[in-house]
Amino acid sequence: MSLSVVILAAGQGKRMYSDLPKVLHPIGAKSMLQHVLDTVQSLQADQCIVVYGHGGEQVPNALHARSDLEWVEQTEQLGTGHAVAQAVPLLRRDGIALILYGDVPLLRADTLNPILASARQGALGVLTAQLDKPDGYGRIVRDAAQQVLRIVEDKDASPAEKAISEINTGILALSADRLCEWIGQLNNDNAQGEYYLTDIIEMAVAANVRVDAHIAPDSMEIQGINNRRQLAEVERYYQRRQAAELLLQGVTLRDPDRIDIRGTLKVGRDVCIDINAVFEGEVTLGDGVSIEPNCIIRNSRIGPGCLIHTNSVIEDAELAARVEVGPFARLRPGTRLAAQAKIGNFVETKNALIGAGSKVNHLSYIGDTDVGTAVNIGAGTITCNYDGANKHKTVIEDNVFVGSNTALVAPVNIGKGATIGAGSTISKNVPAQALALTRSPAKNIPDWQRPSKKKS
Ligand code: UD1
Ligand code: CA
Repeated sequence: MSLSVVILAAGQGKRMYSDLPKVLHPIGAKSMLQHVLDTVQSLQADQCIVVYGHGGEQVPNALHARSDLEWVEQTEQLGTGHAVAQAVPLLRRDGIALILYGDVPLLRADTLNPILASARQGALGVLTAQLDKPDGYGRIVRDAAQQVLRIVEDKDASPAEKAISEINTGILALSADRLCEWIGQLNNDNAQGEYYLTDIIEMAVAANVRVDAHIAPDSMEIQGINNRRQLAEVERYYQRRQAAELLLQGVTLRDPDRIDIRGTLKVGRDVCIDINAVFEGEVTLGDGVSIEPNCIIRNSRIGPGCLIHTNSVIEDAELAARVEVGPFARLRPGTRLAAQAKIGNFVETKNALIGAGSKVNHLSYIGDTDVGTAVNIGAGTITCNYDGANKHKTVIEDNVFVGSNTALVAPVNIGKGATIGAGSTISKNVPAQALALTRSPAKNIPDWQRPSKKKS
């Protein structure tokens, strides 16, 4: 039996006060709509139709690469029933249809399975939730035998109906053929003058189609997002869910409420992450990695046994085993650190290859540079890689010692085992094993009298 999914994503999201269509707002750096599409993917749907409207082509354009999606525009938002009606001409009739909302991002496939199972048995499956504050939602009206009779919208509900705490999440599944038939019979004769998708429940009951209401186990999962407060709440819930997964994978989190994963984080064994870590894009942490507080790591691979000290920022970098970074280090794109390399405080690297066991411990900028193994780069060393027009490369071969406060004016090559005297400006190549220095000779003037203040 085929599965067709219809995602309703035409709503304006007025209360977001945003130029961005609501469903493109991110949770964990991924749009709400993308979250829903990922869930659809895991359901192995045969067809996925997205009903878009507000924000025009912005929504399909954001997902232009997805050739497996079908798009249909709802030019006027006349209600959820009207939105589904736009998808009817495209809908396959031979299987079941699942209606999802583009602004309910965290719904899991496991939660959808019961309503899908109901639909496969010929019933109408609707996902409901028990809420302490059901205000604003459609309520599930049941008879004395607990059979679902209909859904009444908040604005149409009697005081007795408003007291019902079981609400409609809006998510439902049923025979696609029946859906199409009933959508054609909807009217807008109600308090809001809208075409209510929910009216099909009554039609199902009238047609003797069983209605199965499945209560979602977690009411945060079915939370729709209408304003930025709900966006923030769902974001934190999502982050806690990811943190819980990491804990169960054996990661130590000093505080599961103070980690943000905006992308994918892969971890080895015995990883320890202290507070306020932000991971963006694709990040891999090898076995035994330890991350101290306040680090941001983006699109990087951190090898086994690495230690990232507090307040370090790492982007598009690759760290081999047992590398040490920070505190207060900034590794910019193209940084590659070989085993046991060490980058200390207030060091910035960019497009830099640092060889095994080499150290840049304090206050340096190393850019467009290849550094060999066992090199020591003294405090305050700067590679002058930019002449105002072009970038040039610096090569520092194995076992070089660069004295403190050195400027290396690229392009320049420092041969194996060479030594650079502190305070030098090196603008030509240094041969292997040589000592290079550009320091003016020191002189001492004895018994120096400092100027004294004039008497007035
Ligand atoms: C709907 C349900 C209500 C349920 C609630 C859950 C109906 C009539 N009511 O309420 O029972 O408790 O969801 O949040 O179905 N949309 C469109 N086009 C439209 C209208 C809506 O695409 O013309 C989309 C919205 O973008 C949103 C979803 O449908 O993703 C729900 O719309 P919303 O206005 O938030 O829900 P209500 O109709 O108030
Ligand atoms: Ca809503």
